[in-house]
Amino acid sequence: MGAFPITLTRYIIQKQAAHPGATGEFSALMAQIGLVGKMLAQDLRRAGLIHVLGLTGKTNVQGEAVKKLDEIANETFVKVFQHSGLVCALASEEMEKPVNLPENWPHGKYMLLFDPLDGSSNTDVNMPMGTIFSILRYEGKGGLPSESELVRKGTEQVAAGYLMYGSSTMLVFTSGQGVHGFTLDPGVGEYVLSHENIRIPTKGKVYAANEGNYHRWSVGTRRFLDYLKERDQATGRPYSTRYSGCLAADVHRILLGGGIYLYPGETDKPEGKLRLLYEANPLAMVVAQAGGRASTGTENILDVKPTAVHQRVPLIIGSREDVTVAEDFIQEKRRD
Ligand code: AHG
Ligand code: MN
Ligand code: MN
Repeated sequence: MGAFPITLTRYIIQKQAAHPGATGEFSALMAQIGLVGKMLAQDLRRAGLIHVLGLTGKTNVQGEAVKKLDEIANETFVKVFQHSGLVCALASEEMEKPVNLPENWPHGKYMLLFDPLDGSSNTDVNMPMGTIFSILRYEGKGGLPSESELVRKGTEQVAAGYLMYGSSTMLVFTSGQGVHGFTLDPGVGEYVLSHENIRIPTKGKVYAANEGNYHRWSVGTRRFLDYLKERDQATGRPYSTRYSGCLAADVHRILLGGGIYLYPGETDKPEGKLRLLYEANPLAMVVAQAGGRASTGTENILDVKPTAVHQRVPLIIGSREDVTVAEDFIQEKRRD
């Protein structure tokens, strides 16, 4: 018999034991996120059979058409964290305003921000999807948090991560002590530590971007993409393109193998598409903890001072050297 697998439960208990002051609340929170992942993975596997593909007919606060699975994923989060005793506020891509959970107060000191279903254009075509989450701590003694308490810089996150529903379901997270990946063993319904202390290569060979937007990008961004496609043995070019339309899946590939993901600003839409608080910030924390970087093109993502829950931001994320070269092109320090 091989070594007994380290399950998420066991891993969390061991880590908690190393922190004598820990109350166990963070461990319970991660276990509940794992539960959300199991429930959503189950829904996604059967989606084509239980009539939950397609649109709801509604539009969310982003002005985007809401898929039935977006709504189901959001409801799953809310149901799992209501009465959990762990979380006092939730903010989601699919909810116009953050929601307080008074039944968990004053015990639940965590605030959870999430993209319940990322890559939802992939729902109807059996392609990968994800869930992205960011965890903040609320220190306030004056009652439940107001909306502005959730609008914090990425450096204030206490933990962050994502679930990825691909050929297997994975939970990847950091609480500021490295990045660890767990793979769901569907036979026993447990997450098993499969990728301990992930380190992103300092440079990669892959880029991920929706190049259909090429003519909407700034000249510097376009020059960077042209640069990646040129032939140059010394710098390992040309890079290969890999783009799934699911941010979590595309960043997952780059986290493991290196390279760069870009969703830049556009000349008519400089803020880009992706949301700072529950897409860019959590992935930036994960990638930074693994030794990589995330930038807007001019500023570190984790240092951006947010002003609104649903704020958008350009995102350039991945291997340290690749992100730095991208910044040089975007800032027109380099033209090559
Ligand atoms: P969401 O499904 O949560 O709205 O996010 C979609 C995001 C992201 O996952 C992906 O990288 C990007 O939008 C894809 O956008 P394009 O279709 O414009 O490439
Ligand atoms: Mn998303
Ligand atoms: Mn989404």
